[in-house]
Amino acid sequence: MIRAAVLAGLGTYVPSRVITNDDLSRILDTSDEWIRSRTGIAQRHWAPPGTATGDLAVEAGGRALKSSGSGDVDLVVVATTTPDHPCPATAPGVAHRLGLNAVAAYDIAAVCSGFVYAMASAAGAIAAGIADRVLVIGAETYSTILNPEDRTTSVIFGDGAGAVVLRAGDPSEPGALLGHDLGSDGSLKDLIIVPAGGSRQPVAAVAASGDRPAETYFQMEGKPVFRHAVTRMVASSEAILHRAGWAPESVDWFVGHQANVRILHAVADQLGIDRDRTVVNLDRVGNTSAASIPLALDDAASRGLLTPGDRVLMSAFGGGLTWGSTALVWPEIVTG
Ligand code: UT7
Repeated sequence: MIRAAVLAGLGTYVPSRVITNDDLSRILDTSDEWIRSRTGIAQRHWAPPGTATGDLAVEAGGRALKSSGSGDVDLVVVATTTPDHPCPATAPGVAHRLGLNAVAAYDIAAVCSGFVYAMASAAGAIAAGIADRVLVIGAETYSTILNPEDRTTSVIFGDGAGAVVLRAGDPSEPGALLGHDLGSDGSLKDLIIVPAGGSRQPVAAVAASGDRPAETYFQMEGKPVFRHAVTRMVASSEAILHRAGWAPESVDWFVGHQANVRILHAVADQLGIDRDRTVVNLDRVGNTSAASIPLALDDAASRGLLTPGDRVLMSAFGGGLTWGSTALVWPEIVTG
């Protein structure tokens, strides 16, 4: 029998510092009205300077372990666009700080699709018998890569972390991930990019002046990204609905990557899912990239929206370009 990956725990963390749209309007040529109407975002959390992604990951990971009722896992996967260092990966340090001793640990870099990619990777490890319990964390400190002078990106992204524990189980159990659809289109890699800091453009090559070079900041071409996000999330969601044997109207909650409420509604409309069935928490946390889906799950669970037995469709889209979807029936869990 195939060993399924079953949701056994969920925990999240956002830094306490809240940045409102009005805060940003004081330093950028923007307004609360523009940000709310174009994105749905009212505020986001930015970690205090000196905070690294691993710090947020440890908080969320610890809560997910507690929620799962056991501190034991044999693999830690961290999805992030903002790792603590170019080398080594963030996951081994997070595993160490969580007291997980010698477990396997690695990062996944799939930008805003990172969490869905990481869950698929964890499910693969479980199916192959490589791991019995996996801690999957999506964590980001976008505040460290946002160009403070770029109003097209600074108003969108926030910091945060979300984590789940996946355990080996039966495909028919509530909480079992019902398949994975993943994809990418590298011909469009420049639409979402931090140009410098990797091997193609080392920081030293652009760091001639004392100021931080613009090439080390996150850059995004919003308009084409919006279009591709809708098209890819719709197609990927349809693939998963087909695999799960679910009609769109039978989905209780669509938990999409929290990039823009207009994207979420466009995807829901095209899938034939009622907009009221779309989980939205980006108004309070902004776009938290790899942390987005677990933060939305936790928000919906703690608001009492997600109840055991609900059919949940998850879909994400991000830099790469990358996209991915999965689905599950919501299990009995106490979130952390
Ligand atoms: O998470 C990974 C995936 N990311 C996404 O899915 C993001 C997808 N893209 C989007 O969500 C939207 O494209 C944005 C929210 C980024 C932008 O919204 P838009 O409706 O596509 O606006 P736009 O880029 O077409 O800009 C419209 C106008 C422009 O002015 P002109 O050329 O019409 O005079 C911009 O310069 O709004 C201007 N603008 C702003 N104005 C006030 C751009 N950013 C701002 C701003 N405040 N922050």
